[in-house]
Amino acid sequence: MRSLVLAAFIAPVSGMYVPDVRLPYENRTFTSIVVDDFLSSSKNSFKNKNLQRLFTNTLPNTLDTTIFSYDLDPKSPDTFIITGDIDAMWLRDSCNQVLPYMRFISTDDALRDLMTGLVVRMSKSVLVDSYANAFNFDSSQETDHADDVRTPPMANATFEGKYELDSLAAFLKLSRSVYAENEEVFDGDGIYASWLQAVETTAATIRRQQMSTSEEAESRGGPAYTFSRFTTEATDTLMQNGKGTPCARTNMSKCMFRPSDDATTLPFLVPANAMAVVELRETVKVIVSQLKRKADNGRINVYPIIDELTDLADGIDEGIQTWGKIVHPITKKEVYAYEVDGYGNFIFMDDANIPSLLALPYLGYVDKSDPVYLNTREAVLSEATNPFFFKGRAGEGVGGPHQGYGMIWPMGITVRALTSTNETEIKECLKTLVDSTAHTGFMHESFWKNDASDFTRTWFAWANSLFGELIMTLMDEHPELL
Ligand SMILES: *[C@@H]1O[C@H](CO)[C@@H](O)[C@H](O)[C@H]1NC(C)=O
Ligand SMILES: *[C@@H]1O[C@H](CO)[C@@H](O)[C@H](O)[C@H]1NC(C)=O
Ligand SMILES: *[C@@H]1O[C@H](CO)[C@@H](O)[C@H](O)[C@H]1NC(C)=O
Ligand SMILES: *[C@@H]1O[C@H](CO)[C@@H](O)[C@H](O)[C@H]1NC(C)=O
Repeated sequence: MRSLVLAAFIAPVSGMYVPDVRLPYENRTFTSIVVDDFLSSSKNSFKNKNLQRLFTNTLPNTLDTTIFSYDLDPKSPDTFIITGDIDAMWLRDSCNQVLPYMRFISTDDALRDLMTGLVVRMSKSVLVDSYANAFNFDSSQETDHADDVRTPPMANATFEGKYELDSLAAFLKLSRSVYAENEEVFDGDGIYASWLQAVETTAATIRRQQMSTSEEAESRGGPAYTFSRFTTEATDTLMQNGKGTPCARTNMSKCMFRPSDDATTLPFLVPANAMAVVELRETVKVIVSQLKRKADNGRINVYPIIDELTDLADGIDEGIQTWGKIVHPITKKEVYAYEVDGYGNFIFMDDANIPSLLALPYLGYVDKSDPVYLNTREAVLSEATNPFFFKGRAGEGVGGPHQGYGMIWPMGITVRALTSTNETEIKECLKTLVDSTAHTGFMHESFWKNDASDFTRTWFAWANSLFGELIMTLMDEHPELL
């Protein structure tokens, strides 16, 4: 608290001032000496001391504040990570919250085991409910969203039951990212078998959601997923009695809610499908590598799942290339659409939450110099073509419907910097990001375009981790900008 008071006192004199707001050592939910050493040793990489402070606050924020529970026992590894101000674990958030720590796990055994616990926890969660976006710590109590009318029915363990394709892709991305640094992640008793089962469930869910609305109407069981909530927010429930907007078969896979947890307008969310293509293919590489390590001792026949993941990725990719690109009516250039329905309808916009159109190169789907991506980027970063791109006295950036018109999301600015090749643009992004913290020392969810002190969410760990990741990327690629 002392540093906050001090910051408020000094700020008017020194202009922008980022206070040191890390929790005291004894109050942190997890500590990594390796991460702390990295923070100390990287001090000299910065000319801009505000950036350095902000990096020191944000990079460890997930470890400092959101490791709700963990068990590092190799027989029962388990890690439950909350989003920050909401006491539940999102598959997407928790994956993104820990991605910047991957480079540290080969030298920090406890951090490595913490990540193994998260892979195990996610496998179990997917097996409990592959249509959920967020989970409770356990199933002992009735869930907060028990009143949602849903197919499949809500489980106690499900915190929220919104089906978002990128939640499943996040499970795959976390798994392969941990595997890249620790091939032994699945070697504990039963872990690989359970993980493979979760991968099969993931593939089956994504496959099932390729069905068109007419195919679902004719199948005797009806849609595998429906969702209705009594609410005054149109974006918090699905149209057509919980079935969502009708769509044709495109080979893309439906996604009923966006990564903002808002309902999609049209079911084929192109950025989420792009992320799925990348992660399904990366998962194949993990399984093939495990075969080479003879990690399964030949007990598990993985060839059918390898074929299924490959076929699914190829089909979705073809679907994106066939149905997910449009000629923009204003720019007359070919761009990726945000959402399509396979009947020729499309929505062009972007939402700051990842996966987004702006993030396509960050997700590994296209190169930063891909011509269709560059056309898309130009349209995303323009008030004339993206209804959720805002400019004001506090900066400019992508927002989204979730916090409303005129609210810019720091995450959108971070993604812009991560996907830019223009040093001036990256510098401007860094300046707006520092300013957007409004003396709090942390990243926020969104801020009013004319006044950064009018912001949402004081404790949003994903945005903090993503900023940490940006700074580490810049240390490698553009150290002169720091
Ligand atoms: C840190 O933990 C101590 C002991 O539990 C508590 O009294 C104190 O308020 C905590 N400080 C912060 C900043 O959370
Ligand atoms: C769900 O929560 C209710 C209310 O606490 C409890 O009675 C029930 O046993 C729980 N169900 C499961 C499967 O744990
Ligand atoms: C879907 O993918 C399969 C396999 O790649 C392909 O044969 C088929 O033509 C595709 N269907 C559509 C509607 O694009
Ligand atoms: C780089 O970014 C700056 C600031 O956004 C812009 O003014 C400039 O035109 C860009 N340069 C190129 C080559 O795109």
